[in-house]
Amino acid sequence: MQNSDQRFGVQLLQALLIFAIIGVAHATPSISDGSRLYAPCGVCHQPKAWGSPDGTIPSLAGQQKRYLEKQFALFSNGARVDAAMQVVTAHPILGNSNDIRVLAIFQA
Ligand code: HEC
Repeated sequence: MQNSDQRFGVQLLQALLIFAIIGVAHATPSISDGSRLYAPCGVCHQPKAWGSPDGTIPSLAGQQKRYLEKQFALFSNGARVDAAMQVVTAHPILGNSNDIRVLAIFQA
């Protein structure tokens, strides 16, 4: 049986692969919509953003936009520590604060 660290590792890898794919598409500005940006997140947070049934991955659905943006910033600057989310927030495709805003609106 896999422990949860191993499971996150596989999910993180899948998410990074999706980032790589949308990274290519990202060259076209019109494609930077929330659903596309959310695709890698859905590997862990689930396609409808309800999180994992056991609660190890939190639900993003229904959460306030301002709160989501703030948590993202905290992971990004290291004030909130989580290995998976720090890798995610460090990804160059999310370097633009407008992308974070689009994502937060999409999930809310
Ligand atoms: C590899 C798995 C994984 C991926 C991919 C992932 N996350 Fe997360 N995320 C987590 C985990 C685990 C936590 C809980 C961290 C903790 O316990 O502090 C989390 C927490 C969060 C939180 C804080 C939620 C709260 O209620 O405080 C936000 C916001 C978030 N993720 C957004 C995203 C977005 C947006 C993406 C895609 C760009 C994403 N995540 C991709 C695993 C992931």
